[in-house]
Amino acid sequence: MEEEFASRVSLTSKSGLNAIYPSQDPEMISFTGGFPDASLFPKEELAQSFQSAITSKPAPLQYQVGDESLALRKKIATLLTNDGTPTDSAFVMMTQGAQQGLDLVAKLLINKGDGLVVEGPTYIGALAAFDAYEPTYYSVGMQDDGMNLSDLKKILIQKSVKMIYTIPDFQNPTGIVMSMEKRRQLIALANKYDVIILEDAPYRWLRYEGRSLPSLKALDTQSRVIQLGSFSKILAPGLRLGWLTAGNDLYSRLQELKAASDLETSNIMIQTVNAYLTDYSLDAHLRKLQQSYRVKRDAMMQAMQKYLPAQASYSFPKGGFFTWVTMPDGFDFEKAQTRLLLPNFHVMVIPATHLFPGDGHKNGARVSFSTVSLSQIDSGIKRLGEGLSVGSQKQSI
Ligand SMILES: Cc1ncc(COP(=O)(O)O)c(C=O)c1O
Repeated sequence: MEEEFASRVSLTSKSGLNAIYPSQDPEMISFTGGFPDASLFPKEELAQSFQSAITSKPAPLQYQVGDESLALRKKIATLLTNDGTPTDSAFVMMTQGAQQGLDLVAKLLINKGDGLVVEGPTYIGALAAFDAYEPTYYSVGMQDDGMNLSDLKKILIQKSVKMIYTIPDFQNPTGIVMSMEKRRQLIALANKYDVIILEDAPYRWLRYEGRSLPSLKALDTQSRVIQLGSFSKILAPGLRLGWLTAGNDLYSRLQELKAASDLETSNIMIQTVNAYLTDYSLDAHLRKLQQSYRVKRDAMMQAMQKYLPAQASYSFPKGGFFTWVTMPDGFDFEKAQTRLLLPNFHVMVIPATHLFPGDGHKNGARVSFSTVSLSQIDSGIKRLGEGLSVGSQKQSI
């Protein structure tokens, strides 16, 4: 059967989304999830909002005949505008999560072999979406203030690049925020070398300290930034509701691709979230999320400081769900995980191997604090620290 599948099937399944170690071990503490904390879903409010959506007339159960999504798109445009990114609702498209945006943009721009810059490491699901379009990847390393722009510049000088994919706010998987200086420079480089930027911003609203920096879209003067957003992390991923904004030319082409892919985004979900945003305060909900995740982030940082061996370094995320642990060169997190962390220490992280387009990156791992409890953070990071200490003494790891 395998040989009957299109070549993109094996390309996509190689990229690791299925490889996140399902575990039956009852003792396991898993730091792998990029999921939000389910106890923070505004369940009652969403139930009320669904009720008010489905009882409205006409009920949003038919295909959309007009511009039924406009009210929600206007609210999103206002949200983005108030956040410093002036946005017209005519250029806000509802998508099935940001994930669909990744697929549509790659479908629009990437021919086989086209140059695509990604951050190294990057979001595993973006690689899965992009792989199917067979890009030539250029992975640009992450520094404390965002991607290494000297390396990016060299690539742009030497290679033909169609698109740069970046997560500037609380990057998945490192938690890093791109600095203001780098945001400006990145836009200047994209202008100079005529490259599209895909800005993926699902964690932008989950900031636990400090002030937001302008989005890349806000700094864009040539309509070359496509921005993705999502309700997944700030309301609930089960809604499958995200959005995409782009300049006119790109936008109308993306609309055609969207229609060919799934006709439209679920009207009932659009109306539910619109009712939620009408009847409740998203700001108040965000403050609740920020407070709760901040406590977990602090617990994670304390546990790492207390338990990780001296050779380990880790990022300090000012928002989002993730921190990135780095061991010295030569350490292989994937091997350590399968040989030591899973069987002996019952703790699980996402090794770097899955988070780069090519091979060769082994000594880092994503550690997520969003779904685990405070006591799991303490005991799980203690186990991780012990496992890494043992692992770093073994030549074979
Ligand atoms: C960086 C990034 N982009 C996109 C997504 C997909 O999110 P959505 O649920 O909106 O499709 C995720 C989910 O984890 C993510 O981390």
